[in-house]
Amino acid sequence: MAARTIPVDSFDLVIFGGTGDLARRKILPGLCRRCLAGQMPEGARIIGAARSEMDDDAYRKMIAEAIEEFDPKVSKDTACMDRFMCSLHYVEIDATGDGGWPDLKELLRKDVIRAFYFSVGPSLFDDLAERLHKHGITQPDDRVVVEKPFGRDLASARELNQDLAKHFDESQIYRIDHYLGKETVQNLMAVRFGNVLFEPLWNSHYVDHIQITVAETVGVGGRGGYYDKSGAMRDMVQNHLMQLLCLIAMEPPNNFDADAVRDEKLKVIRALRPVDYHHLVRGQYEADEDGPSYREDVENPRSHTESFIALRTHIDNWRWAGVPFYMRTGKRLKGRTSTIDVVFKDLGHSIFPGDESRHRNILSIRLQPNEGIDLQVTIKEPGPGGMRLIDVPLDMTFADAVDAEEVDLPDAYERLIMDVIRGNQTLFMRGDEVEAAWAWTDPIIEGWQARGDVPKLYEPGSTGPEDSQMLMHRDGRRWRDIKV
Ligand code: BG6
Repeated sequence: MAARTIPVDSFDLVIFGGTGDLARRKILPGLCRRCLAGQMPEGARIIGAARSEMDDDAYRKMIAEAIEEFDPKVSKDTACMDRFMCSLHYVEIDATGDGGWPDLKELLRKDVIRAFYFSVGPSLFDDLAERLHKHGITQPDDRVVVEKPFGRDLASARELNQDLAKHFDESQIYRIDHYLGKETVQNLMAVRFGNVLFEPLWNSHYVDHIQITVAETVGVGGRGGYYDKSGAMRDMVQNHLMQLLCLIAMEPPNNFDADAVRDEKLKVIRALRPVDYHHLVRGQYEADEDGPSYREDVENPRSHTESFIALRTHIDNWRWAGVPFYMRTGKRLKGRTSTIDVVFKDLGHSIFPGDESRHRNILSIRLQPNEGIDLQVTIKEPGPGGMRLIDVPLDMTFADAVDAEEVDLPDAYERLIMDVIRGNQTLFMRGDEVEAAWAWTDPIIEGWQARGDVPKLYEPGSTGPEDSQMLMHRDGRRWRDIKV
């Protein structure tokens, strides 16, 4: 089965921060893969813009090396590489001064789709937007793409929104949360809204609780400077886990239009209950033979920033009244997984004598790795000896079901960038959504700061601090295992 290719018009994509880590690691290799998949229209151009002094050839060489390093497979297709390299250009630009802007203006075509990707720190968003405007570069249907972190609290996110709004309409702004570009995250919507089976059960009458786990085995690596100022709450919960929560909990939108979907997500965020500190656990990983401790990684021996967080919240609306939502995420845990578990209620009454175990249906949606869904169902244990019940998984791994070897699945960045070019905002966060997410997050962070809360230490390769297990046990529940 071949992937469906949706043609896009020719475009000019300017990447500010075009020599940076994200551009070299994700954006440009991703675009090169789209080129290989035949989705790059003739005449499409990608313009790297950065401070370094360089010409087109030097930039092409730099990007060819990056693609070789980060996607060796695609770099082996020389015809594709040649074509992709021809589409690359470079402009030396001063984000906070006036140097280079007239060159950029001259290079850009006026009659194609134009997008400006701000792959730079948020402190430069205002400068870039301002200069694009001042030099008469932007046109009403241009698009601007911004990266997370979108602020570090409500006040800074509002400021960023206001800065962008001075020069761009909301319909031109694409705020990336790369989780929304993941194949299976979109599948979450397909599973929920493309099947009649789940909707009648998707509420407090049948669902006991929902767990969202995003576990990583890696530590903070070389990003200590950024991470220590953010922590898991700002880095993961406020955005990625929040988006997963929205997709799992939102009401069915009227259609799949960007605003219909985003309106429903916003309602979920606004209905989130503040988190009580009894329902919050923060942790920091210790050292082991495989690596240094969190504090060593971030070179801050007194850091109180969390590399792990687990919490319980509620969505105060009719559908979810009384249903706890547990979320946890952390670094250097025992396995890498992003999974959502919808745990259904116990049977009200069992007709099978002697069966005292607690059988529960659990729908697990595996976002990564090994994407798929698995439904835990209760069956009779085969063989003689009466009715003994056991729980087994009905497993559907998407790769097996759709012969994924044959399907060319774009990664999150590729998909999102092509959506920018197509003008589809469904998988991007709207300004009010981001602000609402911060409005929920801020009091949690302020709360632990006011209490002088110190994160609990946890062993690398574990499931996080013991208190995270307690968070569940107190409610008579437990976390699903993190698969190694
Ligand atoms: C990023 C975070 O947004 O997401 C990182 O800043 C995290 O800290 C990463 O490691 C996880 O993304 P993925 O796609 O590997 O699950």
